[in-house]
Amino acid sequence: TTTYLTGIQTSGEPHIGNYVGAIKPALAAVESHDTKYFLADYHSLNAVKDPEKLRHDVRSVAAAWLACGLDPARTLIYRQSSIPEVFELMVILTNVTAKGLMNRSHAYKAARDRNEAAGASDLDGGVNMGLFNYPILMAADILVMETDYVPVGRDQQQHIEYTADIAKAFNHHYGEHYAFPIPQGVYPEGESSVLPGIDGRKMSKSYDNHIPMFLPENRLKKLVRRIPTDSTPVEAPKDPDTSSVFQLLRQFASEDQAAATRKRLEAGGMGWGELKNELFEVLNATFGPMRERYTELMEPGSALDGILAEGAERARERSRATLAKVRAAVGID
Ligand code: TYM
Repeated sequence: TTTYLTGIQTSGEPHIGNYVGAIKPALAAVESHDTKYFLADYHSLNAVKDPEKLRHDVRSVAAAWLACGLDPARTLIYRQSSIPEVFELMVILTNVTAKGLMNRSHAYKAARDRNEAAGASDLDGGVNMGLFNYPILMAADILVMETDYVPVGRDQQQHIEYTADIAKAFNHHYGEHYAFPIPQGVYPEGESSVLPGIDGRKMSKSYDNHIPMFLPENRLKKLVRRIPTDSTPVEAPKDPDTSSVFQLLRQFASEDQAAATRKRLEAGGMGWGELKNELFEVLNATFGPMRERYTELMEPGSALDGILAEGAERARERSRATLAKVRAAVGID
């Protein structure tokens, strides 16, 4: 069977971009594939230096998966930190990974440029080795489970390609003893599949421009109202393709509804306020029904802890088997 695996960083509550880019497509694959979805908690140490917040965010991402319909009897769900083999594999992989490849990472380059512009010191937000090594840790997540497909948003494409490069480098050296399957990314269709945030940039926890999936109704409404729009008067025609509000709407509305709204915007007579109300209604209809289950799971002592403990055990069994082969292949056994 083919293995599908994906992870979400636990640095903030999961947002509607995570849903469109990863959660929804990942859950659609459950029927026909061996699925493993995990919480990238060690990855988030780079962004989160507050232990209480980190604990909260881990629960929040786990609860989101479950509230969206992940069934732990069919899909393995676990915390990255429960699997020491991931970190052992990362050390092995660093030795077949070219430093030049990491130098070209978009995330690293962006952080380095911001850092230089701001004159940030190493202690307050400068580039650290966790950020530099991030793609190798991600490769270890994927390869330790001998993954075939990784459902992710387009923003992760370079990371998936790096993982394939790193796997090929390992196979080049050790392939006659053991070879990793070469993983492929599975991306949502359409150019608009990377969701904009409420400031128009890519929706991201690190830009703090995200719409959390399970905001209470009144806060969701307020947040949607805050999405900036231009001062085009109500009567004037508007271009849906340059409007973040419309880009968001069309990910969650039915095709018919999106087409009708597009027509009304282009014709003139529909104001931004009305469009925002429509977006709020659609988001509330999508996430409202899951919100209750999410809130239940977030309670201390909910079923969450047991599910993650069991996931940890099964995931370790699987990753131990990979590491036994990898260790033997490199000559450390
Ligand atoms: P993260 O936590 O930033 O995002 C989790 C998933 O959500 C997708 N996503 C988006 N999709 C569409 N529009 C957006 N605005 C948007 N923002 C986020 C991401 O593409 C991703 O699929 N490095 C990963 C976590 C990770 C991982 C892995 C993923 C660690 N190890 C192994 C897959 C396999 C990340 O930071 O995703």
